[in-house]
Amino acid sequence: MKIKTFKVEQWMNEFENDAVYNLGETCIDSMTLRELLELSGKNPEGFLVALADKRMTYGYIEGSPELLKGIASLYEDVRIDQVIPTHGAIGANHQVITALIEPTDNMVSVMPTYQQHYSIPESIGAEVRLLQLTPENSFLPDLEVLRNLVDEHTKMITINNPNNPSGSWIPLEIMGEIIKIAENVGAYILSDEVYRGIAEDDCYMPSIVDLYDKGISVSSMSKIFSLAGLRMGWIVSKDAGVLQACRTRRDYDTICCGSLDDLFASIALSNKDKIFERNKSILKHNREILDKWVNETKGVHYVKPVAGTTALVYYDKNIPSYDLCVRLIKEKGLLFTPGSCFELEGCVRIGYAFDSKTLKEGLDKFTEFLKEN
Ligand SMILES: Cc1ncc(COP(=O)(O)O)c(C=O)c1O
Repeated sequence: MKIKTFKVEQWMNEFENDAVYNLGETCIDSMTLRELLELSGKNPEGFLVALADKRMTYGYIEGSPELLKGIASLYEDVRIDQVIPTHGAIGANHQVITALIEPTDNMVSVMPTYQQHYSIPESIGAEVRLLQLTPENSFLPDLEVLRNLVDEHTKMITINNPNNPSGSWIPLEIMGEIIKIAENVGAYILSDEVYRGIAEDDCYMPSIVDLYDKGISVSSMSKIFSLAGLRMGWIVSKDAGVLQACRTRRDYDTICCGSLDDLFASIALSNKDKIFERNKSILKHNREILDKWVNETKGVHYVKPVAGTTALVYYDKNIPSYDLCVRLIKEKGLLFTPGSCFELEGCVRIGYAFDSKTLKEGLDKFTEFLKEN
């Protein structure tokens, strides 16, 4: 199977370890196991010593009851048998697309998005139709364009909501229209929801599975739970055919998730309110820092992000985004992600959910660079 290189992952593989100011990171300030255990009211030393006696069997093949219950609790009315644990959201997206998409299908994907959503179906031989999100439209889907992109062979519309890299979140009225368009042609909606869960206004952020019977939600512990090292993700759907197809595929590529990952993810999920409280204040504070910097800095502009952990910042310099980002890491130790990783130019993705000090210092380094060039 031929597949294109995954631009954003390649970029991170090559440069992440050189970063002094890592604003390429998209997770909310990752937690230590100690922090997780303390926040959950457990004694870290006692807990970890007791863990030494855990027999490392495969464990629960379909996920422990605690894990499934914890994941189901992130949705309005999902049963535990509608949850499939996977190796991160990356495993979930891969499983959904490879289980459902045939070479004769077409599929609509928003752009920019996480590259799995268009490069995997393309590698299968399916036709991928891109729905471009633009800053002029606040990076929200243009419904008229979407209507014209779908037809009776459209198997799936795939979105990333909240969107990486732009930080947009599709309002309910627009989502309702997207669902009508999908329903008309009988298409699934795959919604990559790794950044869903912490809303600016504290309200519940509806998942696609709360809204559409042919909706498929993908998420994980990586971003809003600050636990990417667990490599724990999931697929949730109310569609029996989707669940069956993904489980059949899972037997071939997963067997089960790691039992330690399952255990720590279950602890985090049963303490989600405390983790969200911690992370909400990081997001709010850091969004303010970024916004102030954009407003005060000559030669940059953006669409203010409303959700997620990233923003696309446009710069007024005639330098390709890849070259700019290579110079930033080499000359200033500052890691951004080039717009070109998302097929965009004249902009960089800034991950702003790391610690505030790194964010401030990193942005100052960029100001310095802009003045020098
Ligand atoms: C939109 C999106 N989906 C999926 C993933 C993969 O996440 P995970 O670490 O859960 O595999 C990422 C990681 O950056 C992402 O941004």
